[in-house]
Amino acid sequence: MCGIVGYLGHKSPVPLIVDSLRHLEYRGYDSAGVAYLDNENLLQVYKASGKLMNLENILPASLQIRGNGNVSNGAQHIGIGHIRWATHGAANDVNAHPHTGSRNEIALVHNGIIENFYELRQELQCKGHTFLSETDTESVVQLLEHLSQDEPDFCKVVLKALDKLQGAYALNVISKKHPNKLYAARNQAPLVIGVGQDANGHPEYIVASDAVAIVQHTNRLIYLKDGEIAEISEQGVRIMNLKGDLVEPVIETISTDPLTIDKKGYKHFMLKEIYEQPDVVRNSLSGRLQSVHQPIWLLGNTPQAEETFNRELQDIGRIVIIGCGTSYNAGMVGKYFIEELVQIPVEVEAAGEFRYRNPFINNKDLVITMSQSGETADTLAALRLSRQKGAKVLTLTNREDSTMAREADFVMPVRAGVEVSVAATKSFTAQVTALYLLGLALAEKRKASHPEQLEALKSDLLKIPARIETVLHNTEPLQAMARKYGHARDVLFIARGVNFPVAMEGALKLKEISYIHAEGYSGSELKHGPIAMLDSNIPVISVLTKGPVFEKMISNCQEAKAREARCIAISNTPIPKELQTTFEDILEIPECMEPLSPLLTTIPLQLLAYYMAEFLGKDVDQPRNLAKSVTVE
Ligand code: G6P
Repeated sequence: MCGIVGYLGHKSPVPLIVDSLRHLEYRGYDSAGVAYLDNENLLQVYKASGKLMNLENILPASLQIRGNGNVSNGAQHIGIGHIRWATHGAANDVNAHPHTGSRNEIALVHNGIIENFYELRQELQCKGHTFLSETDTESVVQLLEHLSQDEPDFCKVVLKALDKLQGAYALNVISKKHPNKLYAARNQAPLVIGVGQDANGHPEYIVASDAVAIVQHTNRLIYLKDGEIAEISEQGVRIMNLKGDLVEPVIETISTDPLTIDKKGYKHFMLKEIYEQPDVVRNSLSGRLQSVHQPIWLLGNTPQAEETFNRELQDIGRIVIIGCGTSYNAGMVGKYFIEELVQIPVEVEAAGEFRYRNPFINNKDLVITMSQSGETADTLAALRLSRQKGAKVLTLTNREDSTMAREADFVMPVRAGVEVSVAATKSFTAQVTALYLLGLALAEKRKASHPEQLEALKSDLLKIPARIETVLHNTEPLQAMARKYGHARDVLFIARGVNFPVAMEGALKLKEISYIHAEGYSGSELKHGPIAMLDSNIPVISVLTKGPVFEKMISNCQEAKAREARCIAISNTPIPKELQTTFEDILEIPECMEPLSPLLTTIPLQLLAYYMAEFLGKDVDQPRNLAKSVTVE
């Protein structure tokens, strides 16, 4: 959802910024751009619509990465960069960031949405400023330029401008009149400052939307808070609030290894990440579920944190799980599992809906915010609202350094490892595994289920990784299905019980990367509307699992077959011979206890979506219009 980078140091800024932007490509790929002050102190700007590669192709050879990346040449340099996910204005070169003011003195990159941009734009146009783009961002840079006419202190200019802004922003600003200073500001969009040193001992600073764009250079980080501004110069980082009062910077040393963006021989990151899932589940269980006879250890940080969390779990009367997209679907699996096992009410809410009503939340609720990135704007707002209302918040995230992890009362890392593909796969299985562990721990502590049942579930959960491997070894039938059904216009996914969210996730994956219209329904809901769509062109993919809803699902499939739909079964139990003619294709996967089956049934649906998108020649890892981290509402 846009990514920004700023650099102040002695290396060539453009190659370094471009390299950092590569790590932020998951945040958008509608356009990319860089701006820097050259040796004559002139502002140079390069920008191109489309992916980062298009920007690299227009950069002069002297600014290319090769041979230039880490050269420290004595002089101090400054520059900013941006990767865009379009909100205001089409994805073209003009709307690409960095934006500059009418006098070409100031350049700015922005992540977020300025809500009062239109008023600002009108005001500034009346005062003679000419706007070139359709973006909300341009209002900010024109405002800065306007205010700087009568104010020599640029820090004051930035403070005055921010005072006029409404909305969300992470900003990096440079000005040719103040070539030794980089300004950064944050309000409801993430921003991190890396504090490093080059090989010659010169200080250097990299400001970015995500630490992954910084950790190649330094692991000493300052996480800016909402309402904070940083003035960065060779002398150090000055942080202040919006009133201009100084705030003591806190430098944290993080242990994150530099991210290696490597497909490891797979054609796409998505396929690699699907294949990582056995290890992801093993990782997620490791240290938490040792053996069936030992209690579950949830948070994995300190015994004190575990104890405080356990006390909290004893008193809660309800669980509310909040997330968006795939995280929401994972939360739905958690609802079925936890409610059944613990007999406690569990509600699941889409974060964007939760935050704009007056939800009933109190101090007896445990709110679980689910977010791979830990930065999704709506989920973060829901977290804050829940805490205001007195609930304790547990965040399940793949990013321990994210804003949600910092603001929640408790954090349970899901340990999926870096997920690059925009379509979430391994983070889903990691989130579901974490919710299973939470449900089992709660049931244990509250003595809500028979110990034998809990032991059986724990034992089966430990066997899941090997069974995922079995599914991953049998992809030929899925590849054949992708070729057979790849030209469908609509696809329905049906399932019931704990696999109903798997049907929703299967449909979401297919939509996201193949652009085929797909819906996930409960098999029982088919007859209440979607059945009207069915004809001989529509594949209906059903998830069948051994358990209480197997026969019901078979009936639902027959209802679809009676309307000539092309029925496909993903089943973890043999389908009786006399019923097999209902289906054009049947894929058998390993059996497991029904409540845990989503960890297996999801895998073929991810693979099917992948192979269909591949068959259609789509951009699997970076599907159109999407971004991996959505930091705007
Ligand atoms: C975006 C992504 C989805 C993701 C959702 C929630 O829409 O494209 O893949 O599921 O955001 O993201 P989060 O990081 O909060 O899990």
